Amino acid sequence: MPSTTPDVMISAQGIHKAFGGVEVLRGVSLDLLRGEVVAVIGPSGSGKSTFLRCLNHLETIDRGTIVVEGETLARNDDAGKAHYAPEAQIRQIGRKMGMVFQSFNLFPHLSVLENIIEAPMLVKKLKREHIVPKAEALLKKVGLLEKRDAYPNRLSGGQKQRVAIARALAMDPDIMLFDEPTSALDPELTGEVLRTMRELANEHMTMLVVTHEMGFAREVANRVIFMDGGAIVEQAPAEAFFANPQHERTQAFLQNML
Ligand SMILES: Nc1ncnc2c1ncn2[C@@H]1O[C@H](COP(=O)(O)OP(=O)(O)O)[C@@H](O)[C@H]1O
Ligand SMILES: [Mg+2]
Repeated sequence: MPSTTPDVMISAQGIHKAFGGVEVLRGVSLDLLRGEVVAVIGPSGSGKSTFLRCLNHLETIDRGTIVVEGETLARNDDAGKAHYAPEAQIRQIGRKMGMVFQSFNLFPHLSVLENIIEAPMLVKKLKREHIVPKAEALLKKVGLLEKRDAYPNRLSGGQKQRVAIARALAMDPDIMLFDEPTSALDPELTGEVLRTMRELANEHMTMLVVTHEMGFAREVANRVIFMDGGAIVEQAPAEAFFANPQHERTQAFLQNML
């Protein structure tokens, strides 16, 4: 049975997903607890992005159970195939999660401020005068208030990613999903994004972070998950994970990352 205690923010059980007959998730299970920061690491093609995208319904699963804060997004029917909640419930569940992508995905024709207030106004029907002060507070938080009226093409990659984080936070998510948020950045710009994420973690945001930043995983994550070949090979509290990886494939991966 999936866990439904309130402190389990996401319960994913036995997630299977295939693309064109190729199974890329082969029974992945994860419970993400309130306030927990979990880092997902693993080689390219191991299914990390697909797993994140399934959790917030950017992809549909073939089989398994996804429960978000006690609300069932999908679960197996009698035939063992994933059956999804009604559309309205899917949308409501989706709003519990904010997502930050490698490629920022800011709207180029909108200013920084407009990028942040767009979804709260459209989706949550919030009034502009209500959301603008909040957007400004978020920009201050990510250190970019002075860029309020700039357009994305005038920002560095690190600044764009911090705006993307502020934009996700403007929807008041309970959970933040990050898919390699610093992988598209020049090395000197990763620090400012990781700092913003670290601050979020310090405020006890629940975070699931796919990353290649081993320092971040070690220092900020409570738990580290290693995926390979569409499955979770190993997971442990961050300190134990890096000090004493158990599985040969984990050891080989970590060797390569150094
Ligand atoms: N939309 C898609 N259509 C077909 N194959 C896909 C699609 N998305 C991902 N894949 C494949 O699924 C596997 C896992 O990809 P992905 O989840 O992106 O891995 P990772 O994020 O760990 O690099 C890869 O083999 C990839 O080519
Ligand atoms: Mg990926």
